Amino acid sequence: MLKIELLGLEFENPLILASGVVDMTPELLRRAHREGAGGVVTKSIGIEPRKGYENPTIVELPYGLINAMGLPNPGWEAFLEEFKGQKFEFPVIVSVFGGNPDEFAFLVERLDEVADAFELNLSCPHAKGYGMEIGQDPENVYRIVKVTKEITDKPIIAKLTPNTNDIVKLGLAAERAEADAVSAINTVKAIAIDIYAKRPILSNKVGGYSGPGIKPIALRAVYDLAKSLDIPIIGIGGITSWEDAVEFFLAGASAVQIGTAVYLKGLSVFKEIANGLENYLRTEGFSSIREIIGLALKV
Ligand code: FUM
Repeated sequence: MLKIELLGLEFENPLILASGVVDMTPELLRRAHREGAGGVVTKSIGIEPRKGYENPTIVELPYGLINAMGLPNPGWEAFLEEFKGQKFEFPVIVSVFGGNPDEFAFLVERLDEVADAFELNLSCPHAKGYGMEIGQDPENVYRIVKVTKEITDKPIIAKLTPNTNDIVKLGLAAERAEADAVSAINTVKAIAIDIYAKRPILSNKVGGYSGPGIKPIALRAVYDLAKSLDIPIIGIGGITSWEDAVEFFLAGASAVQIGTAVYLKGLSVFKEIANGLENYLRTEGFSSIREIIGLALKV
């Protein structure tokens, strides 16, 4: 019922572990799959190792989290060393970030052998010279997708930023460059202030807001993208319950990624959402998740 074929890959279910949450090692990825994830996205990998920002890097709020980790990662060489020769029984999407098209192309070429697909991080909201700083410009999105498509036959997913006045323009640029899918949304640029210290809480001051508080924003982005794009959309943003997941499928998502809910509820959230989805499909008279994708676009 929940099995899907997406990007030419078989997923046991359309619930994918989002980048940046318990995804640093092959064993952690296997654990997410054992706990019910249909596929996984790795932490974003760059050219050089990065330590990330000093603590505090996360603030918990009533409706989600603000984080600014600073793209910590071991760099492509150490990542390749660790993942080379590893066999996975589920799709592994490698997330990469770079400061220009050449850096993205370099990473995709070097990591091709360990990726089933790539997700281009065009949307981290607070890293100087990376993410949204380049991904807010449709021309950059186009050039980066184009150059990576020329380097690999593996599917390319462009992860889009909500910190823009028109996410659809970014999606259309990715589609024009022949991206295989877009994922939306990355976190919303945000800040929290300690009223007694009278200063921003995060060491980086500004971070990205995720979790239930951004779900309606993410859902609207998916809905608008689905109305304009022909390529698949992977929905991300505050999905915490099976009802949230259903909303994203009805809005046109072909799969969803789950991140903050894993932080808040643990990996068991995958099975909880999968069970709820199956039950919903059965009681609503559907035999496959495919049948509900985009139904809310038809009215
Ligand atoms: O801080 C971080 O590493 C966040 C990355 C992202 O939002 O893509």
